[in-house]
Amino acid sequence: MRVATVCGTRPELIKLAPLVPELSARFDHHYLFTGQHYSPNMVQVFVDELDAPAPDSFLDVGTSEIDALTAATAAKMRELRPDVVVTYGDTNSTLAGSRAAKEVGAILIHVEAGIRSFDRSMPEELNRVIVDEISDLRLAPTGLAAWFLTAFEHRPPPACPVVGNLAVDAWVRHRDLIAARPGPGLEGDYAVMTLHRQATVDDPEVLGRALKEFGSLSMPILFPVHPRTADRMKSFGLEWPDNLQICEPIGYLDFCRAMSGAAILLTDSGGVQEEGISLGIPCITLRPNTERMETVFLGGNKLFDLARDTGLAGDVEHMLATHGDRPYQLNPFGSGYAAARIAAVIELLDGRAPTASFPDEAGFATMADLQAAASFVAASRRAA
Ligand code: UD1
Ligand code: UDP
Repeated sequence: MRVATVCGTRPELIKLAPLVPELSARFDHHYLFTGQHYSPNMVQVFVDELDAPAPDSFLDVGTSEIDALTAATAAKMRELRPDVVVTYGDTNSTLAGSRAAKEVGAILIHVEAGIRSFDRSMPEELNRVIVDEISDLRLAPTGLAAWFLTAFEHRPPPACPVVGNLAVDAWVRHRDLIAARPGPGLEGDYAVMTLHRQATVDDPEVLGRALKEFGSLSMPILFPVHPRTADRMKSFGLEWPDNLQICEPIGYLDFCRAMSGAAILLTDSGGVQEEGISLGIPCITLRPNTERMETVFLGGNKLFDLARDTGLAGDVEHMLATHGDRPYQLNPFGSGYAAARIAAVIELLDGRAPTASFPDEAGFATMADLQAAASFVAASRRAA
């Protein structure tokens, strides 16, 4: 069976790292990078340092423009003629890869299906909804995501198994390498921050308010600045508060090492909210909503709307005072077996006995669930 996996941005490189070796070991697999991200510190550092093979092809599109990404990806797919295409998450590359898969008639598997912020002003929410709509198999990271797919959107339950979240697999796979990194060299309590969402950084007023809130914190904030944010800071002529330790984006190993020693995470990244739970570090999400509500239910995450809320310093204090009470042993994203479940379901789709194995984990798909998913997809394809 020919399988192609599509990747185009930093978080996809990280989260697909544990999956790619599983697929390459079992299938005629092609790992395709669209080139949506292109700066060395957003791409090459991850290709070099992660425990995963480099992409087999780099398309070099160099933009997030969906039509350009789709045209280039579809041209490559026509050459590769995959039976199965795997896309991950919610970026424009995810949408482009998914559309390209449909163009060549491949079975489309969407990983991280069903997560919802219900905020349709976010391009990522639109991308997720469209990709889930056109997918043949929707692999949900959590029971909540599967519930959105089945109860809210009326998808057939067998085609929406809960496989866990590859962010946990990535962290488990790199845990020793992360622990061996030197750390950021900050004394005492410090925060680690990411900030790049369009709703925040593309609006000078919201970004200005955000900077005042960050400046009100009594601790240093390590902030590797995303290129979008760096660009907007320059064009709006804004200045960083003194407690921000600004640097270029850093590699995953150094970033996780910095997070693991932090008192708190401040973020609008999806991946960082998931990593906060895995690392046991409290998190404040700098958005009015999140598609990762499980982290909020568990008390490990709190929302702060930079456009409206005030008093971030008070929220930080509250999180630091209360986060010890939360049930850390519950990781809603699983224990690091998402890649094994994904590989197994594709083996089952191929009509083979799975060689990928994983333990039974309450709330996550069993081999029987994956068999039901594969049978459902095969029957739907025959009926179409
Ligand atoms: C994209 C994703 C977002 C994801 C983020 C991960 C979409 C719609 N958004 O947002 O979901 O969370 O990636 O980081 O797909 N730039 C560079 N070098 C790069 C990449 C970007 O300089 O390697 C600059 C460019 O000025 C570009 C801007 O950043 O115009 C934004 O890049 P883009 O890919 O459009 O969106 P992100 O904000 O990175
Ligand atoms: N990350 C990183 N270096 C940095 C900032 C973040 O390696 O300087 C990692 C972080 O650990 C997480 C991912 O990048 O795994 C988050 O990616 P991003 O914020 O680009 O996208 P999102 O998660 O919002 O889709």
